[in-house]
Amino acid sequence: MQIIGSVNCEFVVRNGRTSLERGKSIYLHSCPSIVSLIQAQTMMDLTAKIQKLKKEKKAIILAHNYQRAEIQDIADYIGDSIELSRKAMTEKDAEIIVFCAVDFMAESAAILNPSKKVLLPTLGARCPMAQMLTTDEIRRQKALHPKAPVVLYVNTLAQSKAECDVCCTSANAVEVINSLDAKTVLFGPDRNLAEYVAEKTGKTIIPLPEWGFCPTHLLFQPEDVTVLKQDHPNAVVMVHPECSGEMRKVADFIGSTSKMCRYAKDSEAKEFIVGTEEGILHRLRKENPDKKFFTAYEGAVCPNMKLTTMDRLYASLKEEKHLVKVPENVAVKARAALERMFQVN
Ligand code: 13P
Ligand code: SF4
Repeated sequence: MQIIGSVNCEFVVRNGRTSLERGKSIYLHSCPSIVSLIQAQTMMDLTAKIQKLKKEKKAIILAHNYQRAEIQDIADYIGDSIELSRKAMTEKDAEIIVFCAVDFMAESAAILNPSKKVLLPTLGARCPMAQMLTTDEIRRQKALHPKAPVVLYVNTLAQSKAECDVCCTSANAVEVINSLDAKTVLFGPDRNLAEYVAEKTGKTIIPLPEWGFCPTHLLFQPEDVTVLKQDHPNAVVMVHPECSGEMRKVADFIGSTSKMCRYAKDSEAKEFIVGTEEGILHRLRKENPDKKFFTAYEGAVCPNMKLTTMDRLYASLKEEKHLVKVPENVAVKARAALERMFQVN
């Protein structure tokens, strides 16, 4: 095995290989202890560089609860989709908002605070659910149900938001629907959230499209909770409303990611089974060191959320990429729908 002399030099980690600054390289698996030292060193270097650039460029880093642990740790603000939107909307001091999340969240920030430069570190970080609802489908359903207001989950693209009456997130969907003077509502794109709000409000909710879903949340199965419960009979089960109806049935608490964080903090319980993307476990464990958190399914990872790495965050700040811009004619209408949501709560 090729031994490297020191870790006090700059390393670049790319495609599973770690390269010394002057071109010499080793394979990552060749020596685990050196590799972890290199990785720790690389992380420290990147953290320092990001902090420095952040100050120089008057930037703020916002991160969703599903982001990698190191991204959450370097962020100025962590939250669920409504909290991040509100923070982006009210941000005054920063000139740049680096949005560590997925496309629709960064788009909402750009819509709500157009005077700021909003950056999405990875262009590929796109929420597949947001792609599931087209403007054609919204218009088709509106023509079929002309009296029904259209409520769209923020997990939609700006052009879809521009077609709706009001937006909502998983944190306020029930309140938004209840605020409407209508018995029938068109709702998209998540079918599970549509079913959940129908149960909670007693209104007729027409899902658009009929089949919208989050691929990550569909991975949760109640059988896994049953197995976990055998070892942790007193554990409280927290589930995101994007999970299936079967998962909601075994839940003690259903809510958005930040609502789960608040619930866990306030609860007397010591053990929790968590039915949402695994990134949230980092925050839950950090905020509640005396409590134990178990994912309801090990494989529940949102690959899109995980595309944001420290290298990409650094490159994003350095090169001021990828700038999120929403055409003004779309932004005006989408902003109105988002603002109506904020008027509800
Ligand atoms: P929250 O608004 O609960 O953070 O959820 C966003 C999301 O994308 C869930 O998959
Ligand atoms: Fe989209 Fe699901 Fe990822 Fe949330 S977890 S960003 S809904 S794919």
